[in-house]
Amino acid sequence: MSLQIIRALNFNACISNNNCSLFCHSLRSGYRYVASGLRRKRGVHVRSAGAIGARVHSVTRSLRYFSCVRPTYTILKEKVTMPENKPFERLPKNVSPKHYELHLVPNLEKLTFTGTTRVKVSIDTSTKEIKLNSLDLELKNVKLQYEESGSNTTFNPVEVRLDADTETATIVFEKSLPEGNAVLYCDFTGEINDKMKGLYRSKYLTPSGEERYAAVTQFEATDARRCFPCWDEPAIKATFDITLEVPADRVALSNMPAKEEKITGNKKIMRFDTTPIMSTYLVAVVVGEYDYVEKKSNDGVLVRVYTPVGKSKQGLFALEVAAKVLPYYKDYFNIAYPLPKIDLIAIADFSAGAMENWGLVTYRETCLLVDEEHTSAVRRQWIALVVGHELAHQWFGNLVTMEWWTHLWLNEGYASFVEFLCVNHLFPEYDIWTQFVTETYIRALELDCLKNSHPIEVPVGHPSEIDEIFDDISYNKGASVIRMLHRYIGDDDFRKGMNIYLTRHQYKNTFTEDLWAALEEASNKPVGEVMSTWTKQMGFPMVQVSSEQRGSNRVLKLMQQKFCADGSQGDDTIWMVPITISTQEQPSKVALSTVLDKRTQEVVLEDVSENSWVKLNPGTVGYYRTQYESGMLERLVGAVRDGSLPPLDRLGLLDDCFAFVQAGHTHTAESLKLIEAFSNETNFTVWSSVANCLSKLSALFSHTALDKPLKNYGRKLFANVTKRLGWDAEEKESHLDTLLRSLVLNRMITFEDPDTIAEAKRRFELHSSGACPLPADLRSACYRAVLSGADEPTFDRFLQLYRAADLHEEKDRISRALGAVTQPHLLNRVLDFAISDEVRAQDTVFVIVSVAVSRNGRDLAWQFFKDHWQEFMDRYQGGFLLARLVKSTTENFASEASAREIEEFFASHKSPGTERSVQQAVETVRLNAAWLRRDLASTTAYLTPYH
Ligand code: BES
Ligand code: ZN
Repeated sequence: MSLQIIRALNFNACISNNNCSLFCHSLRSGYRYVASGLRRKRGVHVRSAGAIGARVHSVTRSLRYFSCVRPTYTILKEKVTMPENKPFERLPKNVSPKHYELHLVPNLEKLTFTGTTRVKVSIDTSTKEIKLNSLDLELKNVKLQYEESGSNTTFNPVEVRLDADTETATIVFEKSLPEGNAVLYCDFTGEINDKMKGLYRSKYLTPSGEERYAAVTQFEATDARRCFPCWDEPAIKATFDITLEVPADRVALSNMPAKEEKITGNKKIMRFDTTPIMSTYLVAVVVGEYDYVEKKSNDGVLVRVYTPVGKSKQGLFALEVAAKVLPYYKDYFNIAYPLPKIDLIAIADFSAGAMENWGLVTYRETCLLVDEEHTSAVRRQWIALVVGHELAHQWFGNLVTMEWWTHLWLNEGYASFVEFLCVNHLFPEYDIWTQFVTETYIRALELDCLKNSHPIEVPVGHPSEIDEIFDDISYNKGASVIRMLHRYIGDDDFRKGMNIYLTRHQYKNTFTEDLWAALEEASNKPVGEVMSTWTKQMGFPMVQVSSEQRGSNRVLKLMQQKFCADGSQGDDTIWMVPITISTQEQPSKVALSTVLDKRTQEVVLEDVSENSWVKLNPGTVGYYRTQYESGMLERLVGAVRDGSLPPLDRLGLLDDCFAFVQAGHTHTAESLKLIEAFSNETNFTVWSSVANCLSKLSALFSHTALDKPLKNYGRKLFANVTKRLGWDAEEKESHLDTLLRSLVLNRMITFEDPDTIAEAKRRFELHSSGACPLPADLRSACYRAVLSGADEPTFDRFLQLYRAADLHEEKDRISRALGAVTQPHLLNRVLDFAISDEVRAQDTVFVIVSVAVSRNGRDLAWQFFKDHWQEFMDRYQGGFLLARLVKSTTENFASEASAREIEEFFASHKSPGTERSVQQAVETVRLNAAWLRRDLASTTAYLTPYH
């Protein structure tokens, strides 16, 4: 290890000047800084430049604690020995918290906070050390006091060791602590940071235009430790008494209702009721200025939706949904919501979509607020889903919590399933279960066929590994296999099992097996045996079917094999596949169900005519793909053409066929031929699946001579439906036709249809002159149409519109349309705009994505990412926004050279928390390259009439 003296500094001077900036500038990523002259070397690994300020404070803090005070320290710089070499360890179990008294005092001007914790702990085995989590906090006045009165009951530590790598604080005592109950006292200070994690700041403007900050928490997965020292693991549950000291004119909220509010001068002290026993990641506080609307749900829970000041009306939709969802879940699980209140609050800066903090659910503004005039139908539907999702967590996640993050999918997969149950109940007209297949199921399959996918249950340790599994596997595969299970055991037994599970484990923690055990008990089916093949094994099978007519019977031969994106054979993994089959005799009925639990199996369908089609996986519920022998496929295609195959079966057939194209089992031209059978399609979800396939083709062929022919093909395909829907909604139009119109117009604009573009421009002008406002559902399409031909002044007009927009949804709509510009210098302006002060860090990624997915923007966005890599690392410090950015700026390339370049870039630019995304993207790029090589010539031939 090389040590290099970088600076001698007067340490006391440094810490008294709280900002340390002089020193900070000399720090570099990848190095550890240690102070010499200490009994033990303590230091801080600087992971990224942006973290420096905070990390340096940790150095100074640790120095303080080893206060063999000398006026001057020499700070040494050493190359970091990789922390990855140290195996991750969970906190020791010898000391556990039972009850926290947490007192927080945010300073909304200086953006710092102070706090104290008094934690009742149980010391179960005598120890000299107490280890807990703490990150970017300065700890002071740590002491331990035993509850029994008498002398000598206070223990002062000889050392408080902060380790930023493991995100822990170890409190070291001189003598062993006796077993028993004690209280651990600690004072601490920290920064209200701008990273959207821990206790962070969120900027808002007062109605008079003044800039102010709210203080908000986001603790999942591992960031409670940034706000107060704690045992920050989901299985270490405790109760909490939270107190906030805030300016008297601010709203202060926490998980529980306030039990006392004391105003003295311009200060307000809010004391909240004791929480139930719960995990630290669900603790929340918000301090800011908000209005609210409220309602008592008919099961007696006070529901409030908090909005920005003056916008309480925008909370009414979510209020209605939440107030109806609570009794629905109460009835579904047969367990009441255990808290007296639930608040839903819109936060202006928020990295995820929403967070299920118990009793105080936080949301992005766009995932909660509905403006009757400016909110689109698809947004409204999304908001219903998000509210349903977070409220499902109040039972599933909050009341019963996964034992460790390996079982995260229990939370997320389950909530992602239940949100559809609840929206289906509240809004049957959304036909939401059909949309599940395109929104959830297909997305899971698309990722899960990669070699770099992962099993649903995945061992994780370090926080960056934990961050990475909030992905399409945990959410979408998780939800898909639960839907499959729900169908396999039926709704009655499913409900029964859920009630057993939630009742048995309430206020406790579980492993995946506990859920299987409860459902098995309820259903008497081998749930554990079946389901573990889906949660412990990566990927999914392809079921190959061939058939033979024997008299009036149809005999099917089924064979399962792992489906691999590269078309390879796969290994010998076997799943227990719940199989269902329908036939032309009764298209919407399951004719046969069985479980395919070996490689091959024969099944006999009785009374099926020779000419009938036979379909596996009706409703597209089973998590597998089906490959038919050609005769069977032909009959099914006929049934697509005449519409006699139900929508989800048409859709499933197409998506399977398209996946086989990508894997090289068949040619692109085959899928184009199949897609033509959909030209008279009427179903929104089926169209959105067709559009998904075409977008992939256009991304693949975007830099070849097929760009135009594919657009012509798309235009012809969408001609009928475009005509049917027109531009103006009919009175009392169905929700799904509204969604379809906006999909179709968007596609026609991407296909560069001159009539659609001209009409979009005309309507946009009427809109911006105020003569005839565009309905929210059509705005994205029109904005993109105008921007696709935009010059500089037009582009500037959109920036003006963005600035003038008040509703966040509208800002999103504009900023995510900007990538439709085609001139390179405008695309570069979009990228610069994305990281400017005008765009919140939560939104930056999506603006860049809009450029990255466009034909002319792909290379520019990737270059931009590389040029600003450090800035992105600092801005997001890992997390899914960064992973998303990495994925979208890389995965559309289609050459071996690009794959290599991406690999090399990330080899020399370590980006914690995005490792798996990089591997997936590189794999996708190679798959694209192979696909392009394989199919360019034959597709060119097929598309000749469209040149
Ligand atoms: N628990 C998550 C929020 C979260 C996500 C915390 C990632 C930490 C990291 C929440 O329940 C959630 O899943 N939110 C979704 C919305 C949902 C409707 C899919 C989100 O934020 O995208
Ligand atoms: Zn969730």
